[in-house]
Amino acid sequence: MDVDAMLENYAYPETTPWLRANMIATLDGAIQYKGNTGAIGYRGDWELMRRLRSLADVVIMGATTVREYDDFPESAPPLAIVSRSLNLDFDGPIFARTRHRPIVITCEGAPRETRRLAEQRAEVIVCGAESADIGKALTELAGRGYKRQLCEGGPVVLAEVAAAGWLHELCLTLSPTITAGDAARILNGPVIDMQSMELCHAIQDGNYLFLRYRIAQG
Ligand SMILES: NC(=O)c1ccc[n+]([C@@H]2O[C@H](COP(=O)([O-])OP(=O)(O)OC[C@H]3O[C@@H](n4cnc5c(N)ncnc54)[C@H](OP(=O)(O)O)[C@@H]3O)[C@@H](O)[C@H]2O)c1
Repeated sequence: MDVDAMLENYAYPETTPWLRANMIATLDGAIQYKGNTGAIGYRGDWELMRRLRSLADVVIMGATTVREYDDFPESAPPLAIVSRSLNLDFDGPIFARTRHRPIVITCEGAPRETRRLAEQRAEVIVCGAESADIGKALTELAGRGYKRQLCEGGPVVLAEVAAAGWLHELCLTLSPTITAGDAARILNGPVIDMQSMELCHAIQDGNYLFLRYRIAQG
């Protein structure tokens, strides 16, 4: 797969802020197999993920996903982590990144002591009482210059992004696998008003399919 050639199809639009989500799912809609997201992917989608980061001003992830990966490359743009508990490894590699300070998006209800620790290690955005208001947080990020946004999930955070009307584009890798079971879908939250999307492209790499949809106009 020629990712450089592919990347020409992923330019952000002139109109920003713009939030792109990048996710992978099996043919029957599962985000992972037996708790392992890597199991449904391959080198090509990891490479695309890495390159999509290079086009963005900020990468947004839910704390559960961050706790699972617990690393983020130094070369990538700032990572914005959504968390209420602030149960994050502030001494780990993500907060040791020197090129870009991480951003923590949280709420008033977060534990006070941990919030002070977070403020020493990250830019902290507090919006919302018992949980972060995702729409306000994304507006705040845009106001700070992070206008080309990339959300890499997980599904709980992505459902909140969509509910807030911020899911402008969805890049979905279709994994040529079926798994059944009870794995989440790529959006995991209460039902929202149905949103129509337009297909921008479908790129095939072997049995994998890279789909890019944007919010339908009008
Ligand atoms: N297939 C894919 O493309 C893909 C992509 C990404 C992730 N994944 C998989 O998805 C799984 C995790 O996804 P997930 O949906 O369970 O979790 P998630 O979205 O990654 O994170 C959920 C966590 O984010 C925080 N959070 C969410 N909304 C919040 C709000 N409004 N205010 C404050 N905090 C908020 C909470 O963190 P605290 O608990 O810290 O309060 C919550 O527990 C992992 O297994 C990962 O591998 C798959």
